[in-house]
Amino acid sequence: MTYKLLFVCLGNICRSPTAENIMNHLIEQADLKSSISCDSAGTASYHVGNPPDFRMTAATLSKLGIELVGQARQFQASDLKDFDLILAMDTANYQDILALDPRGEYSDKVHLMCEYCTKYSTEDVPDPYYGGTEGFNYVIDLILDACGGLLETVKVRSHL
Ligand code: 4NP
Repeated sequence: MTYKLLFVCLGNICRSPTAENIMNHLIEQADLKSSISCDSAGTASYHVGNPPDFRMTAATLSKLGIELVGQARQFQASDLKDFDLILAMDTANYQDILALDPRGEYSDKVHLMCEYCTKYSTEDVPDPYYGGTEGFNYVIDLILDACGGLLETVKVRSHL
């Protein structure tokens, strides 16, 4: 059985596609493509259908040599049922996701991305959209750290 991860931010054009593509890269390197799958979504609909933001794509390519691919979609209540683990980039995203689960049936599946960081100690992957290059680079550093910790957690959970 494939363990299904969903990364969620606001627009699904900066943080969550970066997490999805970096995690896919780590999964490929670990030869676990058949055991773990990744998707991403945004709590807002502003950018539905759009590719990742060009500033985020350029930063990820230049820092890690990883190309960002994807097409934005909006998070929907059925994602709570369909995924094994849902990673919110910040606390606002986390609350917006839980608002779609009023009975708390799936709340155990929803976590903050930064819970999996091992080097950084912070709650949120901050929204880089209205800032400069430094913000995009910081997003990459946090996400890379969290993805490493997340991979170890999923390996233990899935007995990989
Ligand atoms: P993301 O960044 O949530 O990391 O994809 C944003 C993208 C777009 C907007 C805000 C944040 N926006 O306001 O359009």
